[in-house]
Amino acid sequence: VDVEQEKARAAAAAAALVEDGMRVGLGTGTTVAHMLDALAARGLTIRCVATSPATEARARELGMTVESWATLDHFDIAIDGADQVDPDGWLVKGGGAAHTREKIVAAAADRFVVMADSTKPVDTLHAPVPVELLEYGLPATLRHLEHVKLRDVPRSPDGGVIADFLGTFDDPGELSDRLAATPGLVEHGLFPPKMVHDIFIARGDDVEHREIS
Ligand code: 5RP
Repeated sequence: VDVEQEKARAAAAAAALVEDGMRVGLGTGTTVAHMLDALAARGLTIRCVATSPATEARARELGMTVESWATLDHFDIAIDGADQVDPDGWLVKGGGAAHTREKIVAAAADRFVVMADSTKPVDTLHAPVPVELLEYGLPATLRHLEHVKLRDVPRSPDGGVIADFLGTFDDPGELSDRLAATPGLVEHGLFPPKMVHDIFIARGDDVEHREIS
């Protein structure tokens, strides 16, 4: 399987949803990089906000207009990758340490579109689940969170400490609630199906379009 080609196929399908004049939230990662190419090739006039310095730099190189939240605070569409996608539409994100920004952008979009290659679908979500932690009080936060390991590439785009939850779990909703209730935890990488509208899953030459909510 050529995973890069699958990423490009899922990316092309997602980029095709963008229309002239739209406000677009741009995710982070290697699949998003393909999507930026596909989007730029369409030559649309769109307004964008980026979820990471890498995405912002690449979008600008391609001639796209990247704004800040001061001028753009709501999106017609947001497009991003994922690390895991389950059959119900739950996601694990944050492999690129940008999940806090990505969740803010996803939640501010009328339509959140996810792109996945064939390595991303799973029967049940599993560790690692990325978490962003505040530097302040870190030893106490880590004591509350069992089974969490600090990452080697330890910072989010906003300076937060990035770690991975490595424990087992059956119910992503229950783990979401537990992580979100931990003082000092800024955001976790579990995205619920109600936040997700479309998932494009590329397998070889095929792209499956799942409509979630
Ligand atoms: C970044 C993310 C990415 O969307 C996720 O890691 C997938 O990345 P890639 O497209 O490179 O496989 O959540 O924080």
